[in-house]
Formats: sequence, C-alpha cells, structure tokens
Amino acid sequence: MSAAPNAVTVALLGGGTVGAQVARLLEANAADLAARVGAPLELVGVAVRDAARPREGVPQALLTDDTAGLAGRGADIVVEVMGGIEPARSLILAAMAAGSSVVTANKALLAADGATLYRAAAENGVDLYFEASVAGAIPLLRPLRESLAGDRVLKVLGIVNGTTNFILTKMDEEGADYGAALAEAQALGYAEADPTADVGGLDAAAKAAILAELAFHTRVTSEDVSCEGITEVTAFDVQAARDMGFVIKLLAVAESTGDGGGVIVRVHPAMVPRDHPLASVRDAFNAVFVEAESAGQMMFYGRGAGGAPTASAVLGDVVAAARNRVSGGRGPGESTYADLEVRSIDDAMTRYYVNLDVADRPGVLAAIAQAFADEGVSIQVVRQDGHGDDAGLIVRTHVASDGALRRTVERLRTLDAVKQVLGVMRVEGEPGT
Ligand code: NAP
Ligand code: HSE
Repeated sequence: MSAAPNAVTVALLGGGTVGAQVARLLEANAADLAARVGAPLELVGVAVRDAARPREGVPQALLTDDTAGLAGRGADIVVEVMGGIEPARSLILAAMAAGSSVVTANKALLAADGATLYRAAAENGVDLYFEASVAGAIPLLRPLRESLAGDRVLKVLGIVNGTTNFILTKMDEEGADYGAALAEAQALGYAEADPTADVGGLDAAAKAAILAELAFHTRVTSEDVSCEGITEVTAFDVQAARDMGFVIKLLAVAESTGDGGGVIVRVHPAMVPRDHPLASVRDAFNAVFVEAESAGQMMFYGRGAGGAPTASAVLGDVVAAARNRVSGGRGPGESTYADLEVRSIDDAMTRYYVNLDVADRPGVLAAIAQAFADEGVSIQVVRQDGHGDDAGLIVRTHVASDGALRRTVERLRTLDAVKQVLGVMRVEGEPGT
C-alpha cells in the first residue's frame, strides 16, 4: 500500500500496551492530527513478535513480524515502543540511518546508551524525541529540555514509577498484600514486561538518569544512579510510617551538590510527611517537583503509566517530529556540555528513620545516642515501646550526610545493646512543607 503523496509516514515498532493505543489514536484523531501537523499522518506498519495474533484497534493488514524491514524502510517517523535494549537499539539506529526521525518510550535504552542514539540522530540529521520515557502522560521532558533551557535547575524530586506507587498506595490504604498489589498493577498495564525493573527501582533509576541528564546538562546513565527498590519495604515499615504521620513513597532525586560542581542521582523508598504534596499522589499517578534558580519551584502531576496516557505523550512527540518534517526544522539535540561530576550518594544530605530492637536495660539509650554522636548525626525524635526484656526503639535524625547516616547504622549493628536493626529508611520533606 503506497502512502498519500504529502502524508507523513509513521512506522510503529511494538503493538502492545502502548503501541496498540498509539495505533488507535492515530486513526481516531486523524483529522485533528493532520490539521495540527499540516499534513496527514499515515501508519504504514506495526511490527510485533506474533503478527498472527489480532490486536484491538490495529488493522490486521498493518501487522508484521518483519521488524527490521519496517524499521529500515525509510518512514518519516519510526515509533519504538517494544522495550528492552536489543534489538530496539539496532532497529532505532537502522531507522535513523534510513533517514527516519525516531520517537521512543524506551527509558531503559535511553538511560543505558542514550549517547549512541543522540549521535546517530545528529549524524543522520533526524530527530530523537522521548517524552513518554519518563512519567507517562506528564509533559516533563519538554519543559526541562526547552522551557527551562534559560534557567539553572537545582533539584528534581518525585515519584516516577506508577507500579510501585500503586503497590505502596494499596499497602498503606488497604493493608494489601505486596504480591496481590503487584499482580493488579501488571493486569492494569502499568508494569514493565519484567516487573522486577519496577519493584527493584531500576525503572525509576533509568528515569532519574534521563531527568538528571536533561536538568544538569551532564551525561548520566543508569549505572550512575544509586538505586534501592521497594522489595525490602515491610508491612511493619508501612504501619510505623503511618503511626508517625508519614507515608512511604519510592522517590527519584537528582540534585546539584552544595558546591555546584557535581550532581547526585538517587532512587530509594522514603518516608514523606502525610501533609507533604507527594503524600497525596496515589495509585499509578506520578508527580515531579523541579526547583530552578529563577523559576523557583514547579510541580508536574498526572498519570505516570498505562497504555492511553503513555500514547498521549508518544503522539505529542510524533506531532513535533512530523511538524519538523513539514517545515524542514529540527528538534533539540544532546546537551551535556556542563559535564558535572556525578557524585556518590554518600554526599547527599538526608534524614533517616531507624527502627531498632534493643535490650531494655539502663545505659542502652546512651550507647545508642553515642553511636549517632560519633558520626556527627543529630537525633530529632526517639520513640520507645517496651515489650518483655526487649524494647522497640525508633529514632529519627536531623539532616546529615548519607555516608554519616550509613556509618551510624553500621555502628549500631555492632552494639551489644542492639539485638537487631529492624528497618532503616530515608525521610524526605519536613512536616508542614
Ligand atoms: P508490551 O505491552 O510488552 O509491548 C511490547 C510490544 O513490542 C509487543 O507488541 C511485542 O510483540 C513487541 N515486541 C517486543 N519485542 C519484540 C521483538 N523482538 N520483535 C518484534 N516485536 C517485539 O510493552 P509496553 O508496556 O507497551 O511498553 C513498551 C515500551 O514503552 C517499553 O519501553 C516501556 O518501558 C515503555 N513504557 C511503557 C509504559 C506503560 O505504562 N506500559 C509507560 C511508559 C513507557 P507481541 O505483542 O507480539 O509480544
Ligand atoms: N512500568 C512503568 C511504571 C511504566 O510503572 O511507571 C511507565 O514508565
């Protein structure tokens, strides 16, 4: 089937949760999209593994398992929504070599090897857009890449994984079982093909790397991100947070170091005060705060996962790339000129919650306080519950370097008085903020 003479052709690699919605919306919104681009968008093929299996909203005649053939046929725009590193990377490079602009939602690939994709886009004079790779439907990368290009970003902090936020919400509000909540998130199309990327924090780490690279004009990969997922978060932690007026969230943080010469990028669960705006971000919603020198604080909020919300972001990029085709323009390229040092989480300034099982006898509290003092960590709150010969002790600290807090916990583990360190978690945001 040949395309209309002035049509902007679109080839879709992947027809799953996101791809099927992109195909549906290209058809359903065709007239509006044509008016916005200045030319009709024509879907010329949808590559999948199993082309014989029908997909709702995707014409059967467009399905193909010849993925390399579709990627390299020279469509104006190739949309990659397959996921994974290979063959996605090779297919994107082949598409660019054939003169196609590329739109992708693939944060794993961008965070692992975005530099190769940017280089190929520049060499071939094509666009690379990837709004859907972070925070689903929420316009976040374009504001960082374009709207804030005249400012200096200081910090990016938020919830960027819908699956884990869904699970933590269910555990907090309904006392739900972790496994059942994960299965529900998978059924709703939020989770990655391998959900360990979600619960292990790797999906959020990839997104944090992409955000950090755009915000700080510095090359950041997944390997630069300090990453902890939610697999160690227990029902006890969730209840303890509740009792103290906190809620547990998986946070991604990218921040400038105090001296301005470095950047720290981290993903970990954290206790957030219940009156903090992030505490009210529920289910698969995402929210990201951006703090910039001149603009001040901004918050971006919306649906962070799911087929249709993600397809909305993909289509925004398709329209941008199509407009460039029609006008002869180009989108923004790589901006990593600042080349800041990516520093260890040890340098990050955070607060800790430490839950201890301790012997209930005189002098125990003093020994524990000494361990904190020896590392220069100031205690904010101590709460003790006696039970038999043991006592449960919960300590919350003031701000200190993450390295000092980690070493304090190592010291606590060596004390006779400490029977077990039951839980350790970072605390983000002051109550009332
Ligand atoms: P998905 O439902 O698993 O769909 C993947 C699609 O790619 C399927 O149609 C699959 O074909 C096809 N595919 C995979 N490997 C292939 C191969 N080697 N050759 C040909 N076709 C192949 O995944 P998804 O949830 O749509 O996610 C797609 C991408 O979007 C990923 O990079 C993901 O990280 C990203 N993303 C997803 C969401 C979300 O909420 N789901 C949000 C933002 C970004 P079959 O159907 O035949 O198996
Ligand atoms: N698995 C991802 C999430 C999809 O749960 O946030 C959106 O990137």
